[in-house]
Amino acid sequence: MSNKILILDFGSQVTKLIARRVREIGIYSEIFNFDVSLEKIKEFKPAAIIFSGGPASVNADNAPDISDEIFDLGLPILGICYGEQLICRKLGGSVGFADNHEYGKAELEIIEEHALFNGVNNKQVWMSHGDVVNNLPEGFKAIGKTADAPYAAIANDEKKIYAMQFHPEVVHSIEGDVILKNFITKLAGLTPDWNMHDYKDVAISQIKETVGDKKVVCGVSGGVDSTVTSALIAEAIGQQLTCIFVDTGLLRKNEAEQVCDIFENRLNVNFIFVDAKDKFLGNLKGVSDPEQKRKIIGKTFIEIFDEESSKITDADFLAQGTLYPDVIESSHPSGGASQTIKSHHNVGGLPDDMKLKLLEPLRELFKDEVRALGRELKVPEDLVGRHPFPGPGLAIRMPGNITEEKIQVLQDADDIYISEIRAAGLYDEIWQAFAVLLPVKTVGVMGDQRTYENVLALRAVTASDGMTADYYPFEHDFLGKVASRIINEVRGINRVTYDITSKPPGTIEWE
Ligand code: XMP
Repeated sequence: MSNKILILDFGSQVTKLIARRVREIGIYSEIFNFDVSLEKIKEFKPAAIIFSGGPASVNADNAPDISDEIFDLGLPILGICYGEQLICRKLGGSVGFADNHEYGKAELEIIEEHALFNGVNNKQVWMSHGDVVNNLPEGFKAIGKTADAPYAAIANDEKKIYAMQFHPEVVHSIEGDVILKNFITKLAGLTPDWNMHDYKDVAISQIKETVGDKKVVCGVSGGVDSTVTSALIAEAIGQQLTCIFVDTGLLRKNEAEQVCDIFENRLNVNFIFVDAKDKFLGNLKGVSDPEQKRKIIGKTFIEIFDEESSKITDADFLAQGTLYPDVIESSHPSGGASQTIKSHHNVGGLPDDMKLKLLEPLRELFKDEVRALGRELKVPEDLVGRHPFPGPGLAIRMPGNITEEKIQVLQDADDIYISEIRAAGLYDEIWQAFAVLLPVKTVGVMGDQRTYENVLALRAVTASDGMTADYYPFEHDFLGKVASRIINEVRGINRVTYDITSKPPGTIEWE
């Protein structure tokens, strides 16, 4: 029997969390759009199927629907929210508008002891629905309810079909992961076997098979995704891979040297280093509009990468560090809610008219899985765990025009801030932390001297995917220490401020 779970996506914003949770439990899972053909489902050979939530009403015209035959496959099924309503409507129950829409936290009351709830102590669950099941199909029974949903959890043990109105995949359903695990291991009978060590070997043999004796080029930025992509391909085909690193001059302090060290000394690949600092600075001269900066950096990058990669005349493949969330976002039934984020990723991206075939060995993985794979590949820890860094780099961390002097001041201040965060053991709790050099001068006094220098803003946020974020609640003493070190050690800054804006309404970067 296969040990994979197929998730049918009905358009919920949190479908990818289901895939994450299932993989965290140790079972490989993939998301398919709800209208995938039965043949494709059979081809995937799932051992169980999960129906996601979704924004539609099952009673609406054109509501996302599935073939009845899915129920004849004899596979265990778990329906979540819309998934529950769809199961009920298709199998003979009924669904109507709820008198009270339920959004947010609710308390699950277990009506009947059931393996689905084994070991569940905290019963807070997260609801988000306008419709509610009114009548159950034959063979189903209610096993849990909430104040507004009498059929908050239902089961048909004979057919192994289970469903719930709440979302076990979100963290606000406190022990939702236990419920998912019970479905997977106790009810569907699967044994967790998905781990990065085995995945690495499978991925390496797939790359060998795809690439054969051909050549591959890969653009690297020093970020986790492109480094792990390169390390994985290097392990598979070694010197058939050429990595190209374009130094924009807009990286963090010493970052270019670190990237060169890894690629020149630790990975068995061909490595091309392009020092393009002057070109980027020249093209950016006098530009202060954020979108203009992004466009210029993107265009300059592509020109340089194109020029360098075209010198490798016998390359057949272009490797890219595309991750699973990017793949899902572009095929999401809602049309992809994250277009802006995607265009961000493309800043470090590649020419449209290149004739190379794409090689995307990370396209099945989430970020934390990429990190785990990086560790399997012995990529240095400080790189594997590094905070995300935007393609346009420090250019969008200094509102106003860009000069070499400003870059250096910002690099030095940022380096102090980050090393203090690391020293305090806080680095891994934070999604992203960085300094922003403001084009504002203020008066200060140092010794007996009047100073008139720039303001630096510190930013640190917690987030799970960067789409929303909260500012990190540092202790005041910590902030005081960082501010005083920066003002004392970095010439050009005489005032430091901490940004306490969440996203929304702010964004993570200042530009
Ligand atoms: P915002 O500022 O939109 O950032 O809240 C969300 C995440 O995206 C990163 N970011 C970018 N990444 N090119 C990139 O590659 C960009 O132009 C860009 N702008 C923002 C940001 O660092 C955060 O992780």
